[in-house]
Amino acid sequence: MAEPAPLPLPDPGPEDRPVLVIDLGGQYAQLIARRVRECRVYSELVPAGIRPEEVLRRGARALVLSGGPASVYAPGAPRVDPGLFSLGVPMLGICYGMQLMAQELGGRVDRTDVAEFGRAELEVTDESSRLLGSLPREQTIWMSHRDAVVAAPEGARVVAASPTTPIAAFEDERRGLYGVQFHPEVVHTPHGIELLKAFLYDVADAPPVWTPAAVIEEEVARVRARVGSERVVCGLSGGVDSAVAALLVYKAVGDRLTCVFVDHGLLRKGEAEQVVETFGHHFHVPLVHVDASERFLARLEGIEEPEEKRRRIGEEFIRVFEEEARRLARAGSGPPPYLVQGTLYSDVIESGGHAGVAAKIKSHHNVGGLPEQIDFELVEPLRMLFKDEVRRVGEELGLPEAMVWRHPFPGPGLAIRIIGEVTRERLDILREADAILLEEVRRAGLYRELWQCFAVLPAIRSVGVQGDERTYAYPIVIRAVTSEDAMTADWARLPHELLQTISSRIINEVPHVNRVALDISSKPPATIEWE
Ligand code: XMP
Repeated sequence: MAEPAPLPLPDPGPEDRPVLVIDLGGQYAQLIARRVRECRVYSELVPAGIRPEEVLRRGARALVLSGGPASVYAPGAPRVDPGLFSLGVPMLGICYGMQLMAQELGGRVDRTDVAEFGRAELEVTDESSRLLGSLPREQTIWMSHRDAVVAAPEGARVVAASPTTPIAAFEDERRGLYGVQFHPEVVHTPHGIELLKAFLYDVADAPPVWTPAAVIEEEVARVRARVGSERVVCGLSGGVDSAVAALLVYKAVGDRLTCVFVDHGLLRKGEAEQVVETFGHHFHVPLVHVDASERFLARLEGIEEPEEKRRRIGEEFIRVFEEEARRLARAGSGPPPYLVQGTLYSDVIESGGHAGVAAKIKSHHNVGGLPEQIDFELVEPLRMLFKDEVRRVGEELGLPEAMVWRHPFPGPGLAIRIIGEVTRERLDILREADAILLEEVRRAGLYRELWQCFAVLPAIRSVGVQGDERTYAYPIVIRAVTSEDAMTADWARLPHELLQTISSRIINEVPHVNRVALDISSKPPATIEWE
C-alpha cells in the first residue's frame, strides 16, 4: 500500500485531520458522522463528488462511504471519483458504500432473491479480521438491503457472513479498504460502535482527541481570528444554542461582546431571571436586558390567529433588537460589525451548504427616520456541531444543567400555547400551571426522557365545583411527547399517579383553573404545539 503523503502539520489540532463521510444519499449518513465524533474523532459529511486532491488537502485520516437507496449498477447511481480508492487513505464502505467499492474494484454486485431488512445474525468467519476479530464470533446486526456483493474484489478476503448474505464484510488490508453490508452506525447493531472504533483507532490510526474541551479551544481561536479587535453582538433567547454560542464568543473576545436579551414576556416561569443571573451575574458577560413585554402584549392585543401571532412577534423582535444595536452603535464608535448566530451543523447540511462558507446577512429595520440598514457579518461558532455536541460543550463551559438540557421551546413562546388572545392574566395562569407540571415531571425523574412537556391554555371556560361554589374557569391541557427529531412524535405515557399529582396541584394552586386534560394525540396527525 502506498503510504499517505506526509502532512505539513507540525502541531495538528483535533480537527485538522478529519474523517470524511461521503454522502451517497443514505438516511444514515449524518448518523455515521455523529458516531465517529462520539468516538472523539472529528468527522464531516462531504458530497459524493469530492475530488482526491481535496481529500489529500484536508489530510483526511479516513474516508467512509455511506449507505444509499440506489443500486450501484443502475444508471445515474451516485459514484465517487475512482482516484479515491488508490490514495492510500483507509476507507470503510457501509451498505451501498461497500457495494460501490466492490463494483469499482472488480468485484460483482447483484440483486438477491431474499432482501434483508432489519435484525440479522452475523457470523465472523475470519478471526484475523481487523474490524471484527476482537468482537463476538456471533452477533446481532442491522441490515437494510436488496442488492449484495456476490464476488469480493480481488485481493479482498471475506470475513463475515449472515444466513442470507455470504459476503457480509470484506477487507483488503494491503490497500486499506474495508466493507460491511450491515449498518454499524445504528443502535440495533450493538457492537457497531466497537467496529467503528477498530476502524478509526487501529486501521486509520486516528487518536480520540476531539473532546468538548478541544472543541472550545478550536472555536475560541477561530472566532478570535475572524473577529480581530472588532465588537460583536449576540441575541440571547434562553435556549441552549444561543447560550453556548454566546459563551464561546465571550471566551474569545471578552468584553467586546455584548449580549442582548430581548425579553418578550412570553417565556416560562423563572427563565428570564435565569438568563440574567447566569450571564450577567455568574459569567459577567456584558448583558443588555430589554424588558419589552408591554410592547409585545400591545402588539398581540385582539390577535387570535396563530400565524398572525408569529408574524407580529417576529417583527417586533427584530425591531427591538435593532433599536438596541443602534443604541450600542451610539455608545461605541459605530455599529458592532459582527452578529453571533447559533447555526448548527444539521442546519448547514440541510441547507446544502459546506462548512467554512462565510455568510452575511442584512438586517433591515422598518422604523422611519433611522439608518437604512444595519449590516452584520455572521459569527457562527456552532456551525460544525450537532445538537448533542452543543450540549456537551455547554456542560464543559459550566452552563447550568437546566439550561443545557432544556426542552426545545418555540421562539413565539407561550403566545402559541394560549389558544386565543394572549393577555397578561392568561400568561400568568399558564406560567404557573406549566411550572407545576415541569416541577413534578422533574421530580419523577422523567424530564430527560421526554422531548417536550408543557401546559396549554385554551381560552375557553367550563363549569366546575370547588368547595360548595360553582366555578366557571379555564382548563389546562398537559402535552408531553417523546420524539427523536420533532418530525414525528408520540404522546408520552406518564404514570397515572404523576398525572394525579399534577392535576390536583394545578387545580388547587392555580387560580382560575378548574380542569386538567391530557392530550393523547401523536404527530402526525396532530402537531406537538397546539398552534
Ligand atoms: P410542531 O408543533 O410543528 O413543532 O409539531 C415541531 C417543533 O417545532 C417547535 N416549534 C417552533 N419553534 N418557532 C420555533 O422556534 C415556532 O414558531 C415554532 N412552532 C413550533 C415545537 O416546539 C417543536 O419542537
